[in-house]
Amino acid sequence: MAASSHPQVSELLAEARRAFRAEFGVEPQLAVSAPGRVNLIGEHTDYNQGLVLPMALELMTVLVGSPRMDGLVSLLTTSEDADEPRRLQFPLPTAQRSLEPGTPHWANYVKGVIQHYPDSGTIAARAQVCQQAEHSFAGVPCGIMDQLIALMGQKGHALLIDCRSLETTLVPLSDPRLAVLITNSNVHHTLGSSEYPLRRRQCEEVAQALGKESLREVKLEELDAGKELVSKEGFRRARHVVGEIRRTAQAADALSRGDYRAFGRLMVESHQSLRDDFEVSCPELDQLVEAALSVPGVYGSRMTGGGFGGCTVTLLEAAAASRTMQHIQEQYSGTTTFYLSQAADGAMVLPL
Ligand code: GLA
Repeated sequence: MAASSHPQVSELLAEARRAFRAEFGVEPQLAVSAPGRVNLIGEHTDYNQGLVLPMALELMTVLVGSPRMDGLVSLLTTSEDADEPRRLQFPLPTAQRSLEPGTPHWANYVKGVIQHYPDSGTIAARAQVCQQAEHSFAGVPCGIMDQLIALMGQKGHALLIDCRSLETTLVPLSDPRLAVLITNSNVHHTLGSSEYPLRRRQCEEVAQALGKESLREVKLEELDAGKELVSKEGFRRARHVVGEIRRTAQAADALSRGDYRAFGRLMVESHQSLRDDFEVSCPELDQLVEAALSVPGVYGSRMTGGGFGGCTVTLLEAAAASRTMQHIQEQYSGTTTFYLSQAADGAMVLPL
């Protein structure tokens, strides 16, 4: 069984240039790309000032553009999933008039980035601006993981991010005997949009009840000792976060030593904790993880991202990829989409 193939950057760029020429009648003057990401371990830890270990993917978005003199922004998006291109025109923000989120919803994140983007700044500042756009324009109180890995990913490496200090450490991930398989459950339970902010709030409440700035400052023994100060549910949420931060540090260490078995065990523990304590998994994700784990050559598997649908990530021997995909699809009640990706580079300017 084969993973779905992803277009090369050159193909995407050619397509974007063609669409730009057709729409505006001139050649674009600037082209950039930004990758997708998968989080290997460290889930729901970023907004708790914890550790995460994502990698950038070879799947990417390409953007082309040109300056214009009339103070307007014209957006045109095309994608494989949409039949029709989507268009929107709006004025650039000024000191007197800011951009506001509204409809169409698909443009809100782009508007937010334009509104908040600084003229200069370090990479971390740019990531924070994009995070701000998600909070105030897209309405998702996310952490900083996605933005930082999209900017700082490096080919052949996962990136350990300390979301408290924003310090990053590259962890080599280029062993040709190893593969990272992403399995899309193709389900998206709407519950996720209300549960994500709720989880964030619950974590903050526990930290506050224990007199700490964030759950990053809380040790497991302190949480146990303060059990009476928090609700039963809050306790389980915090137990996930505190344990997950520790697992992420251990996983980065295991990966740097090439101990894939240890890494895999931590992935499985992470999934169990997300399922039972943090309660952000769903039957479909559990099914995909269970199916992957029953294949010889699989080191570990877990849900990845916010949860309530979306994808699982599986670490496995490259030689086992085909039979693993086959087995997962046979066991899964729905339809899967598979991606096999190397760790790729972060966002970059493309030569035109
Ligand atoms: C979403 C958010 C991230 C992170 C993950 C969970 O993907 O965008 O910031 O919180 O959920 O780890």
